[in-house]
Amino acid sequence: MIASPNIWHWPEVYEQENRAQDTHSAVYSALRVDTDWAGLDVVDVGCGTGFHLGMFAKTARSVIGVEPHPPLAEAARRRVGHLDTVRVLPGSAAHMPLPDESVDLVHARTAYFFGPGCGAGITEALRVLRPGGALAIIDLDATAHPYGEWMLADLPHYRPRVVEAFFDAQGFSLRRIDTEWNFPDRGTLERVLGIEFGPKVAARAIRETPGTTLAVRYRLHIRRKPRGIEVGGFSGSPAD
Ligand SMILES: C[S@@+](CC[C@H](N)C(=O)[O-])C[C@H]1O[C@@H](n2cnc3c(N)ncnc32)[C@H](O)[C@@H]1O
Repeated sequence: MIASPNIWHWPEVYEQENRAQDTHSAVYSALRVDTDWAGLDVVDVGCGTGFHLGMFAKTARSVIGVEPHPPLAEAARRRVGHLDTVRVLPGSAAHMPLPDESVDLVHARTAYFFGPGCGAGITEALRVLRPGGALAIIDLDATAHPYGEWMLADLPHYRPRVVEAFFDAQGFSLRRIDTEWNFPDRGTLERVLGIEFGPKVAARAIRETPGTTLAVRYRLHIRRKPRGIEVGGFSGSPAD
């Protein structure tokens, strides 16, 4: 498991964060353009308290949330208990309790797929995806002002270009998505920034944010599972 202190320790504040995030649904829209899930089988891996499950369930044939942290999996189950096309299962990105070639979209939002080191999860997603299916990874873009600067101040060893080069080398596309986070009041904004950053950077972020709106850019990386036979390691012409 990868430690996720924000949602593990402050699930109520993280819920407020999810509500404030991307109020114009720019991320969902971009995802839908590339990998529309209408009528398809979707997995949300690292689903946390299941915030995104209901959105997928509106048009998907089925939705499975996979979550390794038991209290969050339980919260997700409670959230979607009334939706008969949605299930929540214990598991992780590298070990999904799903048969081979059983789903069409594996979605991960700010979960597990943070760059070098997530190869086991990519392999696992390609196992559970049907040919033509997609692994869609959504994470924050640390190259964008101002949120990225706070991220880098908080995580001095994080190298955004190394992360992006990793996904590029693994055959993922990249789309950058500008969003707006809108908070109902300053108190909520301050609580959310307080769980995302250490005290010093949180204080700076609060100081540098007037009002209740924040510009935040995301990265959307997509890799499709080939429909035909994948030939590995071939670099010469057929005559070689
Ligand atoms: C920042 S939260 C995001 C939750 C959810 N995707 C959302 O957007 O509300 C990261 C989640 O990844 C989960 N996680 C931690 N290690 C994981 C792993 N190895 N595989 C899948 N998920 C993992 C955490 O328990 C947590 O629920």
